[in-house]
Amino acid sequence: VPKIDTAKVKAHLQKFQQIADQNGGNRRSGRAGYTASVNYVVEKMKAAGYDVTTQACPSPDCTGGSNVIAEWKGGDANQVIMFGAHLDGVAAGPGINDNGSGSATILEVALALAEKNPAMAKRVRFGWWADEEQGLNGSRYYIKQLGANKSKIKGYLNFDMVASVNGGYFINNINTELGKSFKEYYDKAGIPTEENTEGRNRSDDASFTNAGISASGVAAGASATLTAAQAQKWGKKANAPRDPCYHAACDTIKNIDDTILGHSANAQVTALYKLAVSATSAPEP
Ligand code: PHE
Ligand code: ZN
Ligand code: ZN
Ligand code: ZN
Repeated sequence: VPKIDTAKVKAHLQKFQQIADQNGGNRRSGRAGYTASVNYVVEKMKAAGYDVTTQACPSPDCTGGSNVIAEWKGGDANQVIMFGAHLDGVAAGPGINDNGSGSATILEVALALAEKNPAMAKRVRFGWWADEEQGLNGSRYYIKQLGANKSKIKGYLNFDMVASVNGGYFINNINTELGKSFKEYYDKAGIPTEENTEGRNRSDDASFTNAGISASGVAAGASATLTAAQAQKWGKKANAPRDPCYHAACDTIKNIDDTILGHSANAQVTALYKLAVSATSAPEP
């Protein structure tokens, strides 16, 4: 399993910050800062050898913006493992933790996979969603457009706010096979994890679970506070929001916990190898 360099993830976040700075301070779906974010991801993924599609999500499904879908060659095309993150932010600020962090981590994981180019067991697909902030719209549209092909998706993994400065280590559906593929990474690193109760049905994984697709993911938390016990075990502040800049102008490049960010990326690549890379490269459980 390749090791993800946190500095490379940070470089993508710097780019999202610069895009916001140059486009009215935000990356809201349908606006210039969103289009520039799409172009950045598309260019990186194409250069790495991915098959990349932009899918416009028109009204009434979305308020604007396109999804970006990228598939890696190899593996069983009838068994797809999908990674996803919403690429849009709210109008109030640059949206670096929400959700530059999810967007940048899956991007760097995708680039690391391409560089390593291992033999694949399952097909791996990455999605960057438009218009999540207005109601999980881009991901819902993607599922709608897939029709019967949605049954090929055997697991969906969601990343929304993975580097909250007062955050924790939360996993969606932690006791499922998908959830365990992340938990295993954190267990080995000696980091305690918990079920992601704050995020239930509040991000794009809901679009997939509503369609009958198993889902998991990792998050560090939004506006909810940490309990005393959580603060103690993660070395953070009790009774304070996990992300003090949630949906605010201060969700900038400074609003990132580099340690939590790096662990999220490495948990992702560990899960990707476990779930989709061939047994000749990594043993299947
Ligand atoms: N989906 C929410 C947003 O983008 C963020 C969120 C995720 C909130 C998980 C709570 C839990 O604003
Ligand atoms: Zn948000
Ligand atoms: Zn979000
Ligand atoms: Zn398995």
